[in-house]
Formats: sequence, C-alpha cells, structure tokens
Amino acid sequence: MNILVTGGAGFIGSNFILYFLKKHKEHTIINLDKLTYAGNLENLKSLKSSAYHFVKGDINNREIVEHIFREFNISHVINFAAESHVDRSILNPQIFLKTNILGTETLLSVAKSFWSNSKKNKFLQVSTDEVYGSLGKEGLFSEATPLSPHSPYSSSKASADLIVQAYHDTYGLPVNITRCSNNYGPYQFPEKLIPLMIHHALNHKKLPVYGDGRNVRDWLYVEDHCSAIETVLMNGTNGEVYNVGGNNEKENIEIVNIILKELNQITGDKKINKNLITYVKDRLGHDRRYAIDSSKIQKELGWKPKMTFSKGIVKTIKWYLKNQDWVNTVISGDYRNFYQKNYKK
Ligand code: NAD
Ligand code: TYD
Repeated sequence: MNILVTGGAGFIGSNFILYFLKKHKEHTIINLDKLTYAGNLENLKSLKSSAYHFVKGDINNREIVEHIFREFNISHVINFAAESHVDRSILNPQIFLKTNILGTETLLSVAKSFWSNSKKNKFLQVSTDEVYGSLGKEGLFSEATPLSPHSPYSSSKASADLIVQAYHDTYGLPVNITRCSNNYGPYQFPEKLIPLMIHHALNHKKLPVYGDGRNVRDWLYVEDHCSAIETVLMNGTNGEVYNVGGNNEKENIEIVNIILKELNQITGDKKINKNLITYVKDRLGHDRRYAIDSSKIQKELGWKPKMTFSKGIVKTIKWYLKNQDWVNTVISGDYRNFYQKNYKK
C-alpha cells in the first residue's frame, strides 16, 4: 500500500504513523500536513523509516494532492486532517468548513480521478461520535443513529461524512468512515481536556471546568484508535461506517479529580490539589453526553480496545511529565496568544 495520510503531524495522525510503520515495514506512508498550530513534526522525529515521506501542504490544494497521487501511486487515503477543537470552532467556524468539508471533497475528487480498482483502493475518513449530537442519561450512539451535530466543528465533520458517503453511493468510490469517541494519549495538543488539565496542574494554574463539570465523554486510548483504523483500512467493507469506542464513560470532573490524584502521587507536589479546580462559564451549545456502541467493529472485524482508563491515564500523565519540552515547544506560538485572549477567566 502507498498510503496518503493527511494531518499526520497532529495528535492521532502522528500516533498512527508511528504505530503503523513499526508494524508494517512493507507499506509506504506519505504525510500531507499544513502544519497549523496543531501540527508538529516533533511528534515524528523518532521516525527513521525510508518508507515515510513528508509533504507540507493544504488538503485544499488540488495540485499538491494530484502531485502526490501521481508521484507515489497512492492506493489508500486516511484523512485525519481537520480543524479539531470545538472551542475554536465556536469562535471562528469558517476555517472548519474550509478544511473539514471542502478539503475532504478535494481529496475525494482527486482519488476518484486516479482510482479504478475498488478492490485495491480505499478512502478512510476519520470522523467523530460528535456527529450524532448529544445523549441523555441513557443510550448509546450506533451507526444507525441519525446525524444531529450541534457545534460548528461537529457539523463540519458530519458534512464531510455525507460527502464521503455521496462519493461512494454516486461514483462507487471505495470508502469507510470511522466515528470514534474522545481520544487521549501522547502528543495531544494541550488545549483538549486531559493534556490541558495536566499542564495547568503541573504549573499550579487554575483548572477551568466548564459548567457543572458533569458532561460525559467516552475515552479511547489513542493506540486503540490506531489499531481500529488499521483494522478498517485492511478489512472494512466498502461503504460502511464503523463506530470506535473505549468503553470508558466519565464525567469531566471525574477526569480532573483522577488527574489531580495521580499527579499528586507521582510528583508529591502538595500544591497540586482540588483548590485549583475552577468552575467557569459553560461552553456554548455544550453537548451533555457522548457514549458509543462499537459492537459492529467488534463483531464484524474482530477489533476491541485493549487499554483500561486507569492504566491509560497513568501512562499519559507520565508521558507528559517526561515530555515537558514538547509541551513548551508546541504551546510557544499561537496557542499562548489564543488561550490568553479567550480563556483568561
Ligand atoms: P489535531 O488537531 O491534533 O491534528 C490535525 C492535523 O491536521 C494537524 O497536524 C494540522 O496541521 C493538520 N491540518 C489542519 N488543517 C489542514 C489542512 N487544511 N491541510 C492539511 N493538514 C491540515 O487533530 P486530532 O485530534 O489528531 O484529530 C485527527 C482527526 O480525528 C480529525 O479529523 C478529528 O476530527 C478526528 N477525531 C479526533 C478526536 C480526538 O479526540 N482528538 C475524536 C474523534 C475524531
Ligand atoms: P475537549 O477535550 O475539548 O473535547 P470535546 O469537546 O471534543 O469532547 O473537551 C472534553 C470535555 O471537557 C468537554 O465536555 C468540554 C470539557 N472541557 C472543560 O471542562 N474544560 C476545558 O478547559 C476543556 C478544554 C474542556
């Protein structure tokens, strides 16, 4: 396989490239990434494989995408590239539409023009459980749950899913869509809940909990997500959607308390305690609960998550403690300005 991985310098994409090339020496990966604030080549600096190539560019740039297809005879696409942070989408929706919807369509259109063999090709769209909207206390999202997104981010991802499906239904393009829950693990940009709380606690900064802190997310260790994508890439039935979940539903405040407890134990720093928790104004349109039924991928493709939350969170915290230089590098630019402007409460 010659795989075009888009957004491979981001959190999940870089974890995927490291995971996949360690396991499969016979395949080639071309990473196309615009290197926004969320893309960091630092994530991939341990990679020495000659089967890996990096191209800096925008998925909206048709010429670059065509050039990559031609030069590398691309047989598979995994589209991770996206604007991915809900809070940013609330402040500035337009770039989400441009990258997440129009960028995805550019990739689909180029794939359609190059590919003729549905058995040898595959376009895998990495989507999110947020396209299903929000749940009450009970129930799970299944692949049959109607799309009902609320935030500009999730609406842009739902739109992308629809155009991916349309390319399959209209032109027969071989596609899969994966919809996963909240990922956590190494290399996640410290604007998302878990790495933000770790970073703030270590620096004795306030821990901003939105609303009442009782919104629920399902947490998926990033390596489990990588193995799910690998499984769908290799064995997914064309045109199908697969939900991917970690079976780890937690309220946000529970997560913050776990992080405080673990960090306190590991570092012995008494200033890392519950006094840092600060309830702040709720996120606009804040989805209450996400929870995912991933029995389809488990039954049909034999995938299941391996990591428990209690082990995964300790692994993640230890990674952030060991990689403070990485954290300081990635937050040194745009993020610091963004955070101070919008979240200084
Ligand atoms: P991320 O924000 O960490 O990384 C996104 C990457 O895409 C960055 O490297 C960025 O430079 C690149 N990028 C952005 N715009 C681009 C463009 N126009 N052209 C080329 N590259 C561009 O995101 P992530 O958390 O790694 O998420 C990856 C994918 O998984 C996204 O599609 C996201 O919607 C989806 N997803 C993420 C989560 C999660 O918990 N992180 C959950 C469900 C789904
Ligand atoms: P986030 O990591 O942004 O992921 P998503 O919004 O895609 O689920 O947020 C996870 C949850 O944590 C969400 O309910 C919002 C909440 N949250 C906070 O309470 N404080 C924060 O500083 C952040 C970033 C998120």
